[in-house]
Parts: sequence; C-alpha cells; structure tokens
Amino acid sequence: MRDASPKTIYLNEYEPFPYDVEKVELTFDLHPTKTRVKSRIAFRPKPDRKGDFFLHGENLKLISSTIDDVPVSPEITSEGLTCAVPDQPFVWQAEVEIDPQNNTALEGLYMSNGMYCTQCEAEGFRKITYYPDRPDVMSVFTVRIKGPHPVLLSNGNPVSASDNHAEWHDPWPKPAYLFALVAGDLVAHTDSFTTRSGRAVDLNLYVRRGDEGKCDFGMRALKASMRWDEEVYGREYDLDIFNIVAVDDFNMGAMENKGLNIFNSSAVLASPETSTDVNFERIEAIIAHEYFHNWTGNRITCRDWFQLCLKEGLTVYRDSQFTSDMRSAPVKRISDVIDLRARQFPEDQGPLAHPVRPESFQEINNFYTATVYEKGAEVIGMLRCLVGAEAYSKALDLYFERHDGQACNIEDWLRVFEDTTGRDLTQFKRWYSQAGTPRLTVKDAWYNGTYILSFTQNLAPSATTPDPQPQVIPIVTGLLSPAGEEIVASQVLELTEPAQSFTFEGLKDRPIPSVLRGFSAPVVLESELASDHTGFLLAHDTDPFNRWEASRTLARSSLLTILTEGAAPDPAYLDGIRTVLRDDTLDPAYRALMLNLPSQSDLATALHDAGQVPDPQAIWEAVETMRQAQADHLAELLPELYRTHQVRDDYQPNAAQTGHRSLANAALGLLARNNGPTLAQSQFGAADNMTQQIAALAVLLRLNAGKNALEAFEEQWKNDRLVMDKWFGLQVTQADPGAVAATARTLTQHPDFNWKNPNRFRAVLGALAMHHAGFHAADGAGYDMLADWLIRLDPVNPQTTARMCTPFQTWRRYDAGRQAKIAQALDRILATPNLSRDTTEMLTRIRGN
Ligand code: TRP
Ligand code: ZN
Repeated sequence: MRDASPKTIYLNEYEPFPYDVEKVELTFDLHPTKTRVKSRIAFRPKPDRKGDFFLHGENLKLISSTIDDVPVSPEITSEGLTCAVPDQPFVWQAEVEIDPQNNTALEGLYMSNGMYCTQCEAEGFRKITYYPDRPDVMSVFTVRIKGPHPVLLSNGNPVSASDNHAEWHDPWPKPAYLFALVAGDLVAHTDSFTTRSGRAVDLNLYVRRGDEGKCDFGMRALKASMRWDEEVYGREYDLDIFNIVAVDDFNMGAMENKGLNIFNSSAVLASPETSTDVNFERIEAIIAHEYFHNWTGNRITCRDWFQLCLKEGLTVYRDSQFTSDMRSAPVKRISDVIDLRARQFPEDQGPLAHPVRPESFQEINNFYTATVYEKGAEVIGMLRCLVGAEAYSKALDLYFERHDGQACNIEDWLRVFEDTTGRDLTQFKRWYSQAGTPRLTVKDAWYNGTYILSFTQNLAPSATTPDPQPQVIPIVTGLLSPAGEEIVASQVLELTEPAQSFTFEGLKDRPIPSVLRGFSAPVVLESELASDHTGFLLAHDTDPFNRWEASRTLARSSLLTILTEGAAPDPAYLDGIRTVLRDDTLDPAYRALMLNLPSQSDLATALHDAGQVPDPQAIWEAVETMRQAQADHLAELLPELYRTHQVRDDYQPNAAQTGHRSLANAALGLLARNNGPTLAQSQFGAADNMTQQIAALAVLLRLNAGKNALEAFEEQWKNDRLVMDKWFGLQVTQADPGAVAATARTLTQHPDFNWKNPNRFRAVLGALAMHHAGFHAADGAGYDMLADWLIRLDPVNPQTTARMCTPFQTWRRYDAGRQAKIAQALDRILATPNLSRDTTEMLTRIRGN
C-alpha cells in the first residue's frame, strides 16, 4: 500500500529503547511457505525508561504470544505490535508463520535455488519475528533450526547438530540486523586459521554443488584478511568457527552477519576460467570488507542508522588499506578515485545529495550510498592525514578499548581522536554534516625567493546544506624544481578558511607545485596557477597519483576542446602518455591506467559546469576520436606492448600478472582500431582464462565482428550463471549508442533472462543505464525501457528497483528535449499504483519540483 504521507525519520529524534533484551532464543521449523518461528525473549525494563513496549514486525502471521507464560493479545499494525507489559523483568514468547518461498524482496528469510537464507540489514529481522529491530538493542542469541537439510547454519558457535536439527549459540551480544540463518544442500570448502593468541578457527565456505572449484581464492583471501587485521589493527577473530555462504539471489555484494557472512555468489566465487582479474581483486576486497566488519560494525556497532558511515566508511577505508598492502597502493588509489568520481560526485552534486551522516530518511535502504560508503572512507583518510599515522593507530586502539560491545555514534568516534591528540575536531565534523563536493581553487605567486600558494574553497548550497560553512581540507603538497627534483617534500597544508595562503621561503627558483597529492581530499580542484604545469607533472611528478592525474587533466581538457571548438586531440597529451608508456620502470598496471580516459558522464559534468549543455552523442564521438588518436599516435609502440606483456606462466590473479594483462589488453583494444579483428580472434580462441577471453570478445563486439565468438561463448558458458551475466552485460556495453536499447530489449527476451535475479537484472538494465550515449539516446528509448522494467520489478524487489533509479539523478544536465522525456518516464513510474516506499522516495527526490 502506498503511504499517503510517508513517514520521515530524524536523527535528532533519537530515543533509546525502554527495555534491555537479556537473551533471545529462536526456534525455526523450516517450510517453504509455512515456516514457523518461535521466539523466547527476556526483557528487563530500563530504570529511566520513556515510551511504550513496541516490537517491530512486518508480514508476520502471529500464531500465539505470551508474557511469563500467560497468553496476551497485543495490538497489531502493519509495522509491529504494542502490548501491556509488567513493570519488572519478563519473558515474551511468540510463534509466527512466514512464507520464505514467496519472499522475492530478498529481505528477511527467503529462498534462493532451494536453499534458505536471510538478509536482515538494515530492517529485515522484523520480517522474521516480532522484535525491537534497531541496532542499539544488542543481545545474546541461541538458535535452533529444524529442517530436512544437510547444512543448517546460524551465528556463533555450533552447540549440537543431528539429522534435521542444529543448535547455535552466539556469545557476543549483537543487534538483530546481524542475525543470519542458512539451510540447504551445500558443500563446504574447509580450512583453518590459528589466531595470534592461539585460538583455532574452523573456516568454511559453503557453496552449491558444482561450485566447489570456485572456492580456493576466496578462502585464501579470508585467511589473508584475518592475518592482516591482527598485524595492522591488532584485531583477532573471536569465535571457534567462521562461515561464508554463497547465494545466487542477493541484493548487494555481501553481508557481515556475525560468524556467518552471506555473499552474493558474484562477490566470492572465482576461478581463472570464469573470473577476470578485476573480479578477483573485487572478491578479495569484499571478503576483507565483510571480515573487517567483525570489529568495525559487529563488536562496535551503530547507535542508529544515521550512523551507518561509522561502520561502512571505516570498513571501506580498512579494506582499501588492505588492498593497497596486498597489491599496488598507487593503482588502488587511482582506481578508488575513478570510482569516487563516477559514483559519488554525481550523487553529491545532484538531487540525491546528502551528508555522510544523513539527518533524515524515509527508507534506510536508500542510504547505502556512495556518499556513506566511499566519501565516508575518504573522510577517514583525511582524518588520518591530519593527525598522522601514529595518532590514528592510537585513536583506533582507544576506540576498540573504550567502545567494545557498544552501539556508537560519530561523536564517540571523533572523541577518541580528540582524546588521543588533543585536537579540536569541531570544524572537521562538518565533513559529516554538510553535503556536496567542495570546489577548491589554487593560485600561485613568486616574489624573489618566496613562493605563495593561495587557495579558496567553496561549497554550493543544497537542499540538505542550505548554508555551507568552510571545512578543514588537508591539501598534501610538494614542490618540484624546474629540473623535476623534489625540493619541498610532501606536506599537509590545512585549509580552514574560505581563502588562505601558504608561504614557502628560501627557494632558488620558482618551483612547480604538485597539489592535492594522493587526492588527499574529495574535492574538485580548479587550477588558476600563473602557468600550466600539467605536462611537466605528467613527465616528472614524484607522486604517482598526481602524475596520473596530470594525464587525466590533459585528456579531459583536450576532450573538452574537441567538443567545444572542434579542435584536434592535443599532441602534448599524446606525446606525454607515449613517454610514460615507454617507461619500462613503471608498473604495467599503472601504465594501463594512463591510457584510461575520463568517463563520458564525467565529461558531461565538466561541460555542464562550464555552462554548456552536454550532448551525449557528441561526447561519444569525441571519445572515439581520442581513442583513435591514441591508436594512431602509439601505433609503433602497441605491437611491442602487446607482445612483451603476454603472461607465459600459469595464471595467477596477483597484482603483477594482472598488470601485464591489463596493459596487453589495453594495447589489443587500440591495435584493433587500425589492424582489424585478427589478433583479438586469435586471443579469443587461445584464451585459457576469462580475463583474456572477455577482453578479446569485447574488442570483437566493438568492431561488430563478434557474432561467432558470442555464440561460441554462450555455448561454452551457458551453464555458468556468473559468466552468463558477463555475456548479457557485455553485449549492451559494447553496442553503438543507437543500438543499445534494441540490444538490451533482445536480451530481455532471451530464455535465460531471469529478471527476478538481481545480478541478471543489473547485467542488462544496469549496463543499459551505464552506457552514457546509449541510455541518453535522443529518442528516449533508453529511458522508456528502464522505466518499464523498474515498474515491473518494484512489486517484486523494491530495494533493487530503488537502487536502479540512480541513473536518472543527473537528468537536469541535459537539454530540454531529454529532460522532458526523463520527466515523463519518472512520472510514469511514480504514477504506478502501490509503488514501494523505497522507489517512491528515490524518485521523488530525483524528480524535485
Ligand atoms: N552491510 C553490508 C556491507 O556493506 C551491505 C548491506 C547493507 C547489504 N544492506 C544490505 C547487503 C542488504 C545485502 C542486502 O558489507
Ligand atoms: Zn560494509
């Protein structure tokens, strides 16, 4: 039912729950459509309590309920129940019936390919039984499961197991969102880990029969994560067993349930034949992320959902540190910034802008955003940059010591930093409360021996931040001599004022500045320097991030002049990248990133910022022109790059081999522009790993020479769901703009297009929305198609539908014709009867007035 006036929840209306939950016992009698859940919960009234006894509960059939064994008749609404309760400790017992088979929303207890599994974050537990479903209510759980399945799992340690029965006990108090249950005919890939204090931990990765061969890498990543968290954060695992389960139908990447992580199979299953290097790296990072939540999220959790970044920002920050340590730190940083600009900047600069810690929401599922996660991690990176690595470690030790077992907020988090460093973080806290991407300008001046860098900061007002105040921005800066030597090493300039200057004395020559090294703050930097040093920095910067950033800046401005002036591609840019690509002392992965161009969506933003109306088709053509210019300009170098970076050793998904393959495949793509499909055909035919196979297939599709390869690929992989997701997605990604909607439509008619599976839905419709020129085709076919499918998916899976509305968020940038078509599509979805709260909130925010 569509709420006439959807309820808004506010941060400043927080009230604690009036009762403590002393323990929870749950008994599940599993049945596809009639699962019975019995709960026995010991409540103790808090001395200073305010408010009624209210338990959340949705879509539950209440069979019976008692208090201290006496039947009661609670008052039930669509959101939960209230009941008169004693003034002293009491035991609440209830039995409810639920229907996992028909739970297509994938929230609560549901079924996927015959197995039972749960997803409770953020508010799914209330679809399992009546409970105070809020993260600040923590308790110890014992769970009994009855069902005809060989594998019956829940959180904590196993207490007993027999045929059709298992009991689990989790000694660590936890909020209900970390509850999990799994039952099915699964096979385990097992291993073990001994913690540094000597605790032996059994490790299991549970998968469906047939997927046994895809477990090895995930297990190794898990052990590496466990070791790393001990070594770097001093955090040990705290149970006798750690289980991971792979599930095909899952709304997000993975979930950190205590002792029983549940993963989208795409985020854990891997083999060289079926997974690309990029997949391996992502899987390693997600396994680390979920494991790291055991301390940052589970042992210390969130007081309320407004504090989501407390666990997510920190855990993303930790997993990126892990990846930097396991692989190449500069390559990881550059990839993270590409991702931040692609996903977080548009959010922060459009109608969905919200602070890292939002202050109100209607549906919390809509706030698992790039801002909370990725900008949340950037904020922690800035904090570490400002206080230094050593103080950061001390503050984290204090955080774990002071807050273990608690549900905390951002104030608690910042206080450990204030207490360890004595620093006042009042201004820093604005990073948590103000939405939007600050714009930074830099100017310089030179007066006999004194060099001055002057900065301004500016944050545009937005709906949630109408009156922005200056933030503290750490600007890591180094100075180079005209000969390219580092004459002033990297230091942190702290910009706290709207405008501020920094002076460097005693220099012989006017230096060349390298500012915002490592992308030390999530801002847009605009240069007003007296002269343009970008080419120099591309050739000489000692900071690998800024050296890459220079190539990006040159590429972007050249693309913009192609678009606005019909200019030719900038020869200085092309010469610059040729020099870098020739430099064999540089990591091949890093060199491959030098060939990468700003995304078409980035270019649309840049045009919009310059007061122009972006034309997606023209942007597409400009990028084609630039790619062709790369192919021509590097023509002599490419065959050799392709040859030297072939990997002859057995496939390993490590950083070194990954770098070689990414550079060789980048060369392959450029070579094909002038030499045709032959080389890609032979790579496709000879490939013994997915990285090589799919890169070749992408090139062939781009050349419209992929028909046979596409059929061969389908024949080879038709029984592998994850590989077939790639097959579906790639055809859309590689289509010409005018063919995108039609290609996607054909794919939705394929017998294997199972649209209720979020991975498959995203493979086709997500690829459609990500194809900038295709989605924004002038006839509106892309908009209409996405709208049609969102209308269809919403009653089945609101969470995924709402997430898939975000491609519309940039709509105000485009011309009147496109805006009218998008408005029509948005209004059509909004007019759908019974539209979910999730989708309604997203579209109302995007649509605006
Ligand atoms: N907490 C999870 C993570 O970031 C993500 C998550 C939140 C999630 N809500 C979810 C996963 C719903 C699946 C479904 O690690
Ligand atoms: Zn997380």
